[in-house]
Amino acid sequence: MASCTGSLLESMIEDGLPISLVLVDKPCKALGIAEQAGVSTEFIDRCDFGWRAKVGDDWDREGFTQTVSSTLQSTGIDLVAMAGFMTVLHPVIFTGFPGHILNIHPALLPLFKGDHAVADALAAYKRGEVTETGTTIHIATERLDDERWIIRQVPVPIYDTDDKETLHERIKEEERQLYPAVLRDILNGVINLSEIKERS
Ligand code: GRF
Repeated sequence: MASCTGSLLESMIEDGLPISLVLVDKPCKALGIAEQAGVSTEFIDRCDFGWRAKVGDDWDREGFTQTVSSTLQSTGIDLVAMAGFMTVLHPVIFTGFPGHILNIHPALLPLFKGDHAVADALAAYKRGEVTETGTTIHIATERLDDERWIIRQVPVPIYDTDDKETLHERIKEEERQLYPAVLRDILNGVINLSEIKERS
């Protein structure tokens, strides 16, 4: 599931991972990348459910999430990878969809949760509080950017010359290696998601 430029999706496609469906919530580059690669796509427009920029919670998040959930189920998908999917789903996704949902967050959770992870890490660096940030792949739950079930993390140094764009791009370079490798390890049984969840 994606909403952005789709460079992580592209790395998964290039890796040859078996992708049944790319689901997007708005028109985005990720949709074009999937179409060009011949991968099935679903565009479930969150605006059809009342979503507007800066609308807060005054939209049908649950209805949107239920549509996402039934689409995933009808496609027979058993593992979902969120790669820059920018809508926070309603908790019904975790009851409606029986498989695991993974997320990648551009920071070392539990640090810098939320939408501004890269900017927040940069600001903390400038205050002398951190020297690095990074990326985290974790099992998504009803808690936003939940750090309980981390699958893998990779640190990324922050430099004086960094701005938000250069830092995010360096994080994404790591993510494009890490995410396909983790998905492949799950497919090959090297990573067992149920065992990770039992570790709580
Ligand atoms: C990545 O940095 C990911 O961690 C975050 O969104 C970004 C997606 O990048 N959740 P792209 O759209 O795949 O280039």
